[in-house]
Amino acid sequence: MRTEPLRSLAYAKVNLSLEVLGRRDDGYHDIVTIMQTVDLADVITISASERLEVDCDDADLSGRQNIVWDAAVALAANAGIVPRARIEVEKRIPTAAGLGGGSADAAAALRGLNRFWDLGLSDGELLAVASKLGSDVPFLVTGGTALGTGRGDELEHTTTKEGVRMLLVVPPASIPRKTPTLYGALAVDDFSDGSRTRELFHSRDLASGMISSDSCQNAFTRAAIEIFPGLDDVWKRTSGITEHPPCLSGAGPAFFCMPSDQGERDAVEETLRDTGAMAYLVRTINQPQDV
Ligand code: C5P
Repeated sequence: MRTEPLRSLAYAKVNLSLEVLGRRDDGYHDIVTIMQTVDLADVITISASERLEVDCDDADLSGRQNIVWDAAVALAANAGIVPRARIEVEKRIPTAAGLGGGSADAAAALRGLNRFWDLGLSDGELLAVASKLGSDVPFLVTGGTALGTGRGDELEHTTTKEGVRMLLVVPPASIPRKTPTLYGALAVDDFSDGSRTRELFHSRDLASGMISSDSCQNAFTRAAIEIFPGLDDVWKRTSGITEHPPCLSGAGPAFFCMPSDQGERDAVEETLRDTGAMAYLVRTINQPQDV
């Protein structure tokens, strides 16, 4: 076991496109999505301890209620060891927004603890543990750009130019049991066959970083605008200003416009000032950063 503290950056993700094909017998839905990591990150620091401790700067997310706890327990069980580590989580990614914040923390903890405990697990073995923790966790173990199929955990990675700037808007809306509620609110008309997302995934525009949110889509858009209080207003005000249209990320309520720039971010922040929504200018990023 290492004694030096180890630090991992847990990058947020956006869904550049997300189609839902239909409901499965196991309660999940089959989806076809393009996931992309961006440089808005939580910071995970692992250091030595006699027991498992998870300490988060958001007090509601300290201890056993943090998915990072489950990640540590699952990884230790897989390796047949007792989980001993202190894991600090600095939250920068808004929670329950559709940006994969909790999943990114779990993925960064798996990567970090694999090194901290000298387990030597391959990416494939880490992915098997990751998929038990949540549908988005496997993608976030490596990040970059990938097509996700099945429940989102069957991955095909591709190489894309990084550094594309996008505006992320995070409305303050939250609802209980968000992801199951949004999946449950989908109607037959919201389902599609995934072909548009697959086409975008294989397009030259995606590879060369020339993609714009005009070609992005998300099956949750109708349901999210109906369900999240205030999303409609934030969406309309943003789309009145930005050059490219908003596209929802995950099950929302966060959405993005791309490409974008600092001037556009500042104008959107100004127009959303009284709504409590946050506006970030982020860049696509393709490599996990662990030190
Ligand atoms: O996998 P994750 O823990 O993120 O899923 C949370 C819930 O979201 C699931 O229990 C399920 O109700 C719903 N879900 C779904 N189809 C998916 C992913 C999630 O129905 N592909």
